[in-house]
Amino acid sequence: MGLSPPTAREILLLCFLLVGTTFLFLPNEPRYMPTRMPSEHAGHKHTTTRDVRQPYQTRLTWGRSRVPQTKIIAHAPGWTILDRLYIYRGVLLIVSDAPQKVPALEAMYSKGVDIELGEEAELSRLPDEDDIRVISTAEAKALFGNGAHLVDGLTFLVNDPPQYIRHYYHGVAELIFGLWRAYSSLDPTIPASGNTTLPAPNRLWFNRLDAFRWRDLNSEMNPWVMRAAFPGLTMEFLDDWDDRGEMDVPFVLERVLLADRSAAMPGLNYQRFQRTAATAFGLPGSAYWWSTIRNNVVKFAGLGADEGWGTMGQPVITYVSRQSWGRRMLIPADHDRLVMELRKIEQVYGYELHVVEAEKMSRLEQIQLAARTTILMGVHGNGLTNLLWMWPTRRATVIEFFYPGGFAHDYEWTARALGLTHYGFWGSEFFTSPNIPTPSYPEGFQGNSIPLDGAAVARLCVQRLELEEDVDEG
Ligand SMILES: *[C@@H]1O[C@H](CO)[C@@H](O)[C@H](O)[C@H]1NC(C)=O
Repeated sequence: MGLSPPTAREILLLCFLLVGTTFLFLPNEPRYMPTRMPSEHAGHKHTTTRDVRQPYQTRLTWGRSRVPQTKIIAHAPGWTILDRLYIYRGVLLIVSDAPQKVPALEAMYSKGVDIELGEEAELSRLPDEDDIRVISTAEAKALFGNGAHLVDGLTFLVNDPPQYIRHYYHGVAELIFGLWRAYSSLDPTIPASGNTTLPAPNRLWFNRLDAFRWRDLNSEMNPWVMRAAFPGLTMEFLDDWDDRGEMDVPFVLERVLLADRSAAMPGLNYQRFQRTAATAFGLPGSAYWWSTIRNNVVKFAGLGADEGWGTMGQPVITYVSRQSWGRRMLIPADHDRLVMELRKIEQVYGYELHVVEAEKMSRLEQIQLAARTTILMGVHGNGLTNLLWMWPTRRATVIEFFYPGGFAHDYEWTARALGLTHYGFWGSEFFTSPNIPTPSYPEGFQGNSIPLDGAAVARLCVQRLELEEDVDEG
């Protein structure tokens, strides 16, 4: 028995229904999903799934409405948080009908090429229309049509070539440091526990380098710290960026933190400290801004997050020696004297002393020791990068040995940005902020005859540990 053909009345009814549902689903407001809070992420997904079938949220659709505009959430030179940044054929597009409110494009983005000295090189790094543009909603509509493919959640987009990142210091103490300092400005009350209202980043895009070239060459700490801090973070690289660019389909990033070393360099705080992350310190931030990352890394290394928090317990002194390194070493007799003086105060005051060579320790051991360390010392160099895992109590101190007259901001600035006290040594002389010298690399800076007065260093340790012992941390 065949079905009877539909009557005219049935066809009419169907038409009404179709028209009705079309209106129902045509958004009059552009749809924008606010970034989810962590509590909504937590568990339960598999047990309380509502029995509703839905399409995957793959598109931001505006239909006949205006294209939703890009919103600048926070900005410092080289570090910019934007909602709804459009990317089309490899070009960043900021959709705005008020372009005068958009920060200078060269303070956000560059050509992402190697950084060479000189004005000509500087000019050659400036972005042009093939890199980033501001377009009106009308232009956007003509370009994109009625929607864009949605990349949801938070993306870190890092527009730097491999030049710097392949060093532990630059990868972690500059890039991850700066990314987190900029992002955590959206939760300026992060407490010591590191608990935050900010959702974890979903992904990291490196559009100027491949999967091999973000690892640091000597210590391979970059991957380790990245996985410890953000275990669920996925990455895309140059080839993926090119794939997306060739697709001739606009993508819209729900929220993005855009990082660009070259764009940070003209910033005032970069000019003062030569650290790209320094510009991000113009944004609001908690004194414990770094604790979210630090605590995750310390837990990854198998310790409690509160390792090193105590202020009354036995202090731990760690001297990171470079004496087998072959470059930037102390005069051997001065190294021996330093170790002897440290052993003396270990005896007298009952400190826990470690004289170590970073290259002979595993990554795990390096982080574990740094997390417990009260005073970290050594000749200017990568071994001091582990100061990132110390806890900023009032006693916590970094002591850095330079060839007399020499100075670089790397560890001095980083220590201070974390709330640690830093002293630089020139033989028997020492200095601390705000009375610090200007950066200088005199002959001997990289050499193996750096003089040091070990007794003066030991006296400073005692002063730091004994005089301030009873300060209440509150
Ligand atoms: C941090 O959050 C966790 C999970 O909600 C909670 O168990 C812990 O008590 C919080 N820590 C502090 C110090 O608030």
